[in-house]
Amino acid sequence: MEIGTIGAGDLAQAFAKRVLKARHKVKISNSRGPDSLREIVSQLGRGATAATREGAVACEMVLLAVPWDNVPETLARLPKWNNQILIDGVNPFHGKAGNFTPANVGNLSTSQLVAALAPGARVVKAFNHMLVPNLEADPVANGARRVAFISADDDNAKKRVQTLLENCGYSVVDLGSLRDGGLIQQAGGPLAGRYFFERGEYHK
Ligand SMILES: NC(=O)c1ccc[n+]([C@@H]2O[C@H](COP(=O)([O-])OP(=O)(O)OC[C@H]3O[C@@H](n4cnc5c(N)ncnc54)[C@H](OP(=O)(O)O)[C@@H]3O)[C@@H](O)[C@H]2O)c1
Repeated sequence: MEIGTIGAGDLAQAFAKRVLKARHKVKISNSRGPDSLREIVSQLGRGATAATREGAVACEMVLLAVPWDNVPETLARLPKWNNQILIDGVNPFHGKAGNFTPANVGNLSTSQLVAALAPGARVVKAFNHMLVPNLEADPVANGARRVAFISADDDNAKKRVQTLLENCGYSVVDLGSLRDGGLIQQAGGPLAGRYFFERGEYHK
């Protein structure tokens, strides 16, 4: 599968390394265009290419990995969505990554806001609850699999992302809808930044 990324920073690069290891391809994009991404794709290696945002969004699965404050403008600039899966890896912090000033998002989950700004996309919340060093670490440690959480309103899209995560080596826990599961796994929720490993039989 070819997966696009909107954003080419820490989360997008860690995600790219992980899915490249699972033999998928990645089209990585930012706001400055493919020429600015030469060094990053060369470091990511085989299977990674630099793309325009339009090129990345044309993939059947796309990771959103931009700072929270940039989300509305980023999504507004993209071409119309045509049923692609949009993985929402974003967390609601103001300012640059590493500045953990929480953004007020009212009583919706952040993924519900993302879904409202991306009509036509099938939004799945995933990858946001792991910090980059954890995403870069092997998902299997001492015979146990790292748990990854997902939430979505579209069951088919959720299943597809679950399969992607399982391909990467994770044990996946489905937290339910974008609202209920989103609130549990997004920053500020009880599972954000918590790490679990599952031993024993690999649950499918
Ligand atoms: N870092 C983590 O451990 C981690 C873990 C889980 C979730 N997250 C979440 O993931 C998101 C990204 O975090 P990060 O750490 O990857 O941030 P980052 O390293 O600052 O990277 C942000 C990326 O977004 C791109 N970008 C900004 N505006 C854009 C636009 N309009 N169109 C396309 N690309 C745009 C930037 O590219 P330009 O050069 O074009 O500005 C940059 O490549 C945040 O919401 C964060 O909360 C981060």
